[in-house]
Amino acid sequence: MNKQPLLQALTLGDLELKNRVVMAPMTRNRADNPENAPTDLHAEYYRQRASAGLIITEGSQISKRAVGYIFTPGIYSEAQVEGWKKVTQAVHDEGGKIFIQLWHVGRISHPDFHGGDLPHAPSAINPNAKSYTPKGFKETVTPKEMTLEDIQQTILDFRNAAKNAWAAGFDGVEIHSSNGYLLHQFFSRTSNVRTDAYGGSIENRAKILFEIIDAIKQEIPENRIGLRLNPSLHGIFGMTMDEESIPTFDYIIEKLNEYDLAYLHLSEPFNDVSEVPFVEPEIAKRYRPVYKGTLIINANFDQEEGNRYILEGLADAVAYGKPYISNPDLVERFEAGAELAEWDQDTFYTQGEKGYTDYPTYQEEKV
Ligand SMILES: Cc1cc2nc3c(=O)[nH]c(=O)nc-3n(C[C@H](O)[C@H](O)[C@H](O)COP(=O)(O)O)c2cc1C
Repeated sequence: MNKQPLLQALTLGDLELKNRVVMAPMTRNRADNPENAPTDLHAEYYRQRASAGLIITEGSQISKRAVGYIFTPGIYSEAQVEGWKKVTQAVHDEGGKIFIQLWHVGRISHPDFHGGDLPHAPSAINPNAKSYTPKGFKETVTPKEMTLEDIQQTILDFRNAAKNAWAAGFDGVEIHSSNGYLLHQFFSRTSNVRTDAYGGSIENRAKILFEIIDAIKQEIPENRIGLRLNPSLHGIFGMTMDEESIPTFDYIIEKLNEYDLAYLHLSEPFNDVSEVPFVEPEIAKRYRPVYKGTLIINANFDQEEGNRYILEGLADAVAYGKPYISNPDLVERFEAGAELAEWDQDTFYTQGEKGYTDYPTYQEEKV
């Protein structure tokens, strides 16, 4: 066994992954049908990438209320479950494993998605970001502060989405608690100024996440639940670091040890944060010693850096985003030491096959 670390097998809960190359969750806006259901095109896209040790799907809204972008798929309706069945079948036919990312955007949504009603968020604070609406990019608005009933409903929606995911044949779910969306909005003092049980202290701001895990556990095995965190996100999606940001993630990650989860998926800082106060610039270094379970690391990795992180014990697996857009056979390319194809940013969020299912494998390129 002299394989490079990325290509070595990994046990994830009770699942055997054939390698440690993970496809990171990526919104691609191809569910352009009235139901926002995945289609045959989605099945083809994910099938092409099934040599990954694990695929994490694009963020998928857990309810109508959770949506924030046009043509993103959901996981709350019958038609969506039927659509996802084609995807999971295609990936399993190729011997792959696939988790679905469960998503609620919170205040990053827009009234245009909700018949004029305000988006929901922990507090009525405008992120001053952009929302990608049916009428193009628009400024976000000041959201509605969620009532306790709204919070309970959201927890139920996550639970129901996990139940649907299981029915659709997914191997597990990833809770999207990252990147400035609803759960991250609860964690941060700059977006959560509540004075009830869900605000104030670090424990209170993190509470909803643990209630969601506990709810999802009622539907699917605990070791099939993963979650994603981006502790040093700053200046993107309306997030601002403060002196309690990192201590909040310290608390959350330590507490996750009380669970037997599939994995914790962390992102290194997305942008240059060297001048930003209160930031932890080295996420894996800080949290690898804290978290006792399986750790997936992400953001701006290439093959060499990915191998190094695993070799040095900084992570168990590496999630690749943009490289997976243009290299469906990323694993085979790593194996062969083949060059990677460039991604075309103009087709990240467009509809149809172009820039989605038409990237060739390196074998096809050679012909
Ligand atoms: C087109 C695109 C869509 C994305 N959509 C999501 C998403 O739905 N959920 C999520 O957690 N992250 C999303 N991300 C972030 C990626 O998962 C990843 O964290 C980021 O691209 C950095 O990794 P990379 O340098 O390997 O691309 C998206 C990124 C891109 C480029």
